[in-house]
Amino acid sequence: MGSNKSMSLKNILITGGAGFIGSNLALKLVSRGYSVTVLDNLSEQIHGANPEKSSLYQSILGKVIFIKGDITQRKDVEQAIEGQDAIIHLAAETGTGQSMYSIEKYNHVNVSGTALLLDILVNQKNSVKKVVLASSRAVYGEGKYVNSQSKSFYPKSRSVELMQTGNFEMINISGEILKPCATDENSKLHPTSFYGLTKLQQEQMVKMVCESIGINFVILRYQNVFGVGQSLVNPYTGILSIFSNLILNGKALNIFEDGLMTRDFINIEDTVELTIRSLELAIANNETINIGTGIATNVLKVANVLANAYEKNVPVEVSGDFRIGDIRHNFADLDQAKRLLDFQPKVSFEKGIRDFTNWVLQQPRIDSHFNQSLQEIKDKGFLKS
Ligand SMILES: NC(=O)c1ccc[n+]([C@@H]2O[C@H](COP(=O)([O-])OP(=O)(O)OC[C@H]3O[C@@H](n4cnc5c(N)ncnc54)[C@H](O)[C@@H]3O)[C@@H](O)[C@H]2O)c1
Repeated sequence: MGSNKSMSLKNILITGGAGFIGSNLALKLVSRGYSVTVLDNLSEQIHGANPEKSSLYQSILGKVIFIKGDITQRKDVEQAIEGQDAIIHLAAETGTGQSMYSIEKYNHVNVSGTALLLDILVNQKNSVKKVVLASSRAVYGEGKYVNSQSKSFYPKSRSVELMQTGNFEMINISGEILKPCATDENSKLHPTSFYGLTKLQQEQMVKMVCESIGINFVILRYQNVFGVGQSLVNPYTGILSIFSNLILNGKALNIFEDGLMTRDFINIEDTVELTIRSLELAIANNETINIGTGIATNVLKVANVLANAYEKNVPVEVSGDFRIGDIRHNFADLDQAKRLLDFQPKVSFEKGIRDFTNWVLQQPRIDSHFNQSLQEIKDKGFLKS
């Protein structure tokens, strides 16, 4: 299989490389002989009030060239791009719920930050030959569904009125409940959150600009990535961290909707391997690829698996609350990933959860202030009961 190694990709810049995916990716790339530079502002929301002490940052310290800087600041990005052969662009604001009311901030970091990166690639002499973009399944909004006659549907957001009466499943206009199915890359793109919209804009900008200047690109649509190292501090995203903190602090779990909404959870180890393959393999150039397991797991199951793993008997309360912007179901169609990256996820959900919970138990116990973040979303009118 063709490799970009023939293009001698040696120096790799990871924006947001001190974060969950980035730090794991950085360490793996270093172990494979790459020289890695990280540009990261050590955002307090992810790294805590004392970010230089964060375990994510500490894990890459001394192993990468670290530039503390911001993706929205020209001089930081110019400095970071110098001498790089490829860029893996991860720096972003990532909370779906939070994005619904922090519009300007999400636009600034995710959209303007990416525009700045591309502007510099176009206007400043550089040696970049490939850009890998971390996009998200959020670009699909609700994914693909079928009815009883196997006809495909790409429904928009669910109606608030119906959800307020406890009807959370996706239905078509004749009232038939639709069945979710694996969402392929050619599915309709209609995000239901502002975060998803910024990810779609990132995709379109990267594609258009890279094509126009002849730089290869790959767009990776990550499903829910989880595992050792994910931020335990950020109350706005990362359901496994949020539930873990609540359980370990003896607090009840408020399970939204009826708990039966599903997500596709992919372990960090598999995510890193797939991301590196997308960087190295020329066959992936200029393609858009789903990164997931293709397995749908419901949120209630996640809550119970975690409570059992921590051996804690906290109340698991299915509240019927729901957030505007949340989707009902989504899981990845992996045909494209299998064909282009020649790899299937290896870590089972159960093994991934065991590794994750064992790691969490070794971390200092913290209160991530999740209930405060919920109150914030409620006050803004995006959490309904
Ligand atoms: N983790 C997931 O489940 C998932 C799913 C879909 C897509 N993604 C995408 O993958 C990427 C990485 O996600 P992650 O889970 O590692 O997130 P993360 O929050 O752990 O890491 C993001 C990193 O970016 C840095 N950052 C934030 N704003 C910045 C700025 N203005 N300038 C420089 N650095 C900044 C943060 O300090 C952090 O270290 C993101 O683009 C995210 O949208 C992640």
